[in-house]
Amino acid sequence: MRIPFLPLRQREFYLLPLDARDLPSMAEIHQEDFSRPWSEEEFATLLGQDGVFGFSAREVGHGDKPPVGFVLTRLAADEAEILTIAVDRAHRRLGVGWQLMDAVLRDLHARRTAALFLEVDETNAPAIALYRRLGFIQVGRRPNYYANSEGPAGALVMRRDLG
Ligand SMILES: CC(C)(COP(=O)(O)OP(=O)(O)OC[C@H]1O[C@@H](n2cnc3c(N)ncnc32)[C@H](O)[C@@H]1OP(=O)(O)O)[C@@H](O)C(=O)NCCC(=O)NCCS
Repeated sequence: MRIPFLPLRQREFYLLPLDARDLPSMAEIHQEDFSRPWSEEEFATLLGQDGVFGFSAREVGHGDKPPVGFVLTRLAADEAEILTIAVDRAHRRLGVGWQLMDAVLRDLHARRTAALFLEVDETNAPAIALYRRLGFIQVGRRPNYYANSEGPAGALVMRRDLG
């Protein structure tokens, strides 16, 4: 008889709107993977701009600990863009990135936004897989857009219609 696989522990996460208290964690998580990570000050400047908002994710039962991931978005007129999204390495593949993107999509939908755009390094398979599953389609490509340690890489421009 086959015994169904059951995870030993279901891990749950909850989201909060980003605020200034999240800035140190945002910078820390961002520097794990980006070749040109953004500083706390850069995040503070962005978060202070009109139309910029986002969410942080924390693990249920660990509310006193810093966030494990965040997403930052800019809304202008009826179009929005993902400025950045990152989940710390210890908490990947647990659905946090999906939950963060889903929160942005729901928020934008409620604000009657027409479309959400993003740019992603064409060598970033995990992020591209996440975006495709969320319904993003490629609408452009910018060659030599990123300077990676392995050399220059192109950016895919992706769009998700919200109409
Ligand atoms: C991209 C990123 C945010 C995804 O976050 P995450 O919390 O690990 O993603 P999730 O667990 O929500 O994954 C949702 C789905 O995305 C896809 N996906 C995510 N990571 C993947 C991987 N390593 N390989 C293949 N598919 C992947 C899968 O379809 C996954 O669903 P599944 O686990 O049921 O198969 C995370 O890998 C990250 O922070 N990377 C570094 C920063 C970065 O590249 N940001 C994007 C810049 S554009």
